Amino acid sequence: MWNRAKFAFSIATIGLCLSASAGLAQQVPPQVSKAEHDHSNAQDPWWKHAVIYEIYPRSFQDSNGDGVGDINGITSRLDYLRDLGIDAIWISPMYPSPLVDFGYDVSDYTAIDPLYGTLADFDRLVGEAKKRNIRVIMDFVPNHTSDQHPWFAESRSSRTNAKRDWYIWRDGKGPGQPPNNWQSWFGHSAWKFDPSTNQYYYHHFYTEQPDLNWRNPQVRKAMYDAMRFWLDRGVAGFRVDAVSRLFEDPGLHDDPILPGKNAYGDPNIAHKYTDNLPEVHEVLREMRRVVNEYPGNPVLISEADEPNIKELTKMYGSKDDEIQLPMDFQIADVNRLSASDFRRLLNEINQNAAGGQPHYFFSNHDQPRQWDRYGDGVHNDQIAKLMAALLLTTRATPLMYYGEEIGMRTTDPARKEDVQDPIGKIGWPQEKGRDGERTPMQWDASKNAGFSVAERPWLPVPSSSAEYNVKAESQDPGSILSFYKRLLELRRSEPALRDGSYVPLNREDPFVLAYLRKNPGNGDAILVVLNMSAETRTVKFDIAADGVRESSARPLIAVPDNGRESTLLDHFTIPAFGVFVGTVH
Ligand code: GLC
Repeated sequence: MWNRAKFAFSIATIGLCLSASAGLAQQVPPQVSKAEHDHSNAQDPWWKHAVIYEIYPRSFQDSNGDGVGDINGITSRLDYLRDLGIDAIWISPMYPSPLVDFGYDVSDYTAIDPLYGTLADFDRLVGEAKKRNIRVIMDFVPNHTSDQHPWFAESRSSRTNAKRDWYIWRDGKGPGQPPNNWQSWFGHSAWKFDPSTNQYYYHHFYTEQPDLNWRNPQVRKAMYDAMRFWLDRGVAGFRVDAVSRLFEDPGLHDDPILPGKNAYGDPNIAHKYTDNLPEVHEVLREMRRVVNEYPGNPVLISEADEPNIKELTKMYGSKDDEIQLPMDFQIADVNRLSASDFRRLLNEINQNAAGGQPHYFFSNHDQPRQWDRYGDGVHNDQIAKLMAALLLTTRATPLMYYGEEIGMRTTDPARKEDVQDPIGKIGWPQEKGRDGERTPMQWDASKNAGFSVAERPWLPVPSSSAEYNVKAESQDPGSILSFYKRLLELRRSEPALRDGSYVPLNREDPFVLAYLRKNPGNGDAILVVLNMSAETRTVKFDIAADGVRESSARPLIAVPDNGRESTLLDHFTIPAFGVFVGTVH
């Protein structure tokens, strides 16, 4: 999942649908034909070269003035995304939901919440995105439903209901005692007593998010059919939520207690019996088979905070038969500018035994934004460019989060009564929740930064939007946005940067992270040098051993600009937090 540890505390490291999709067949726009499937190149799929961009739909663009972003708002901003150089958008959940967890509590997997629009709006979005060569990736939430989902209403109605076994129901240990010590990721016991049937149900997240029982074949079928419903509408794949939590130990063993307490005041525990059970991989293989039924190489992206690269590697499957892009939380959680830490992790994932494509990100709707997480309080804008260069020049499929390209900052609520995210209410003041990284996109300097005409958007617009917004930054060649655009353009125009191999350089340097991206075709190489320290550094590169004979590099992008046309490799000077991306032949 995610780790907010940079901040002063840490949250624990904290058949139905078949008929639905048949019935809807007539409304489904023909996005892709089965014939395309045969022509798609499975060896070189689109997602290996793509830049993916996460949109938190509540916060991207409000089109109807209710203060909450919506689908038509996203559609109206597709030209911006195309001009930026984005190939695919992952949109956080827009399914009908009571919104306890802002959409991650789904009450219908095959519909759109009216708050965000209609299925017709969604189809239009997919169609308009396609015209701009942008693919749409849905968020899929398999671990749990909302407690308002009709499946759960049935399940809780009696012990003999046909859907009783669709969720995890157990007897307590004794009167008032839950079945064991398992804890919710969001604080306190993971068991909720339901007096009507005198049993407890299990919820890994909020009590309003009961866990589905993935050992029940009917649950699997219903969920895979829900995936097909969206694939039929032309989506390019799924970001699969919380996959490592799909199974729990049937023996209900207590989790081991660790020293200390978490932000909710509970004893720390190791989630040994509810995380990463081997059956998870069986489900991932089945999900992969579902997407493989469709043309155009649909992709699976997994959310799973694997504890190390070895575990992360398992997500690819032993025969490239599970997740194509497991999100790399190891890289995302480095949480400090450390050339050594990044180098070690980049090396490890680049050599992963499955030969899988790395998938990096630094910000998302659960993580404090990278502008302040990596910023030192003085050079934040320059460090934002450094992190952009790291994300967009290593060998990986990069995943951006809306607003990182303009240097949006984490803006936590000032008062408990303003908090929207329930974990911020449960954990206040240590845990302020995730509102800070979900504030509205900053388009311009007008009212509400151009996000909404409402009096009060659902979250306040940060005051930094006066300076940090799309309009202002588009006009400034030195802005963070202009830097992202140049880098994204370079990725497209330089095959070595997009597809080349990754060769780490100067492996002992604690301050400067440097690597080559080599084009296997003609031997061209791009040199990337990132100074992760607050002082100018001089580095000596000896890259003859790596098959590069040249003695100098010509900059393609260098910030701060050193004004030189070429730089000698044996005496390479790079300013504080400097970025150099250049060619060597
Ligand atoms: C994932 C989502 C997070 C959500 C949780 C429970 O971690 O990214 O936002 O709260 O799952 O669904």
